[in-house]
Amino acid sequence: MVADGFNPGFSLPYTPEVKAKTEHLYPLVERLIPRLEWELHAPIIAAINDLKKEKDAVILAHNYMTPEIFACVGDYRGDSLMLAQEAARTDARIIVQAGVHFMAETSKILSPEKTVLIPDMEAGCSLATSITGADIRLLKEKYPGIPVVTYVNTTADVKAETDICCTSSNAVQVVEHITSQWGVDKVILIPDQYLAKNVAAQTDIKVITWAGACEVHERFTPEDIREIRAGNPGVIVLAHPECPPDVLEEADFAGSTSGMSNYVKDNQPKHVVLITECSMSDNVALENPDVNFIRPCNLCPHMKRITLAKILHSLQTMRHEVIVDEAIAEKARLAVQRMIDLPLTKGQSTYNQTGSPEVLAVESFAQIDPRSSLHG
Ligand code: 13P
Ligand code: SF4
Repeated sequence: MVADGFNPGFSLPYTPEVKAKTEHLYPLVERLIPRLEWELHAPIIAAINDLKKEKDAVILAHNYMTPEIFACVGDYRGDSLMLAQEAARTDARIIVQAGVHFMAETSKILSPEKTVLIPDMEAGCSLATSITGADIRLLKEKYPGIPVVTYVNTTADVKAETDICCTSSNAVQVVEHITSQWGVDKVILIPDQYLAKNVAAQTDIKVITWAGACEVHERFTPEDIREIRAGNPGVIVLAHPECPPDVLEEADFAGSTSGMSNYVKDNQPKHVVLITECSMSDNVALENPDVNFIRPCNLCPHMKRITLAKILHSLQTMRHEVIVDEAIAEKARLAVQRMIDLPLTKGQSTYNQTGSPEVLAVESFAQIDPRSSLHG
């Protein structure tokens, strides 16, 4: 039992009424979730889906959610860009973010009149905790006249100091757009040094970045990929651009979580490996039954804080509400909205390592702990 009276181990009975409400959902996950386990999930799923209707709530589920969340209670599913777009669009009164804190904050920034809930306040992100608004102010002093592009994996006060946001699915286009608008050939792209290097390899723009990293993706190595290929001849390797550049060099394709998912849907490779968070493979495998997934992966401890039981508790108690100071939200909204409004004619950013990356600096003004987890 934790401080707010929530007992994550509670169980609800699997009744005929629960069965009637959830049986149509079981085929979505039955290839992964055994019947016995399903009967533990189903009562919570039924209660969540009832409460969503009663309270006029929607659940925005990131691709890294476990399948019982992603397929059975998520109303909108996708990468961080798609979830932000949906947060801006939805008419629902309440948004429950099945993802991490920076995603919930982005939803609140875009929909200030709505109640935004996150089922676990401590679902953070190593990238978001690596940099502060004060760091951005120092960067701007050090590099005047250069636009600041901020990955959405940041806190609201960081977004408030920046010119435009990006996600992994549009970073290349955003960098090219803002530099041409400002008439410059350099950009400050923070806080993920690997994403920045991977973007730099796709454009002629020179990049200044920050010493942040995703604790999940930075652990993959080129040797991992070579071993996977040696053990699985013909396997297609897809990687997320938060991986280091030498990992992407070994991959067949790199793109956002939805970019990888679309690649599998469109190409139906016989054997595939997704170099990213573990639940991605589960969710994509369920939608692509003819594809064989090789499954080395790394878990994101922050994403995995979100469970069905916590989502239910969140809807029952209206906790934990995400609040963003309106003065900060107003400035941050400009940066996020500029990204959302951008006409992206070239579709998803992809990261084939063909160019010669020009990274001018990897900055860090303070001692950062890339594994610290609170918020963001
Ligand atoms: P996407 O924008 O690709 O969904 O990535 C978000 C994220 O946190 C990946 O680690
Ligand atoms: Fe942050 Fe990495 Fe987890 Fe994504 S996978 S939320 S970037 S720590």
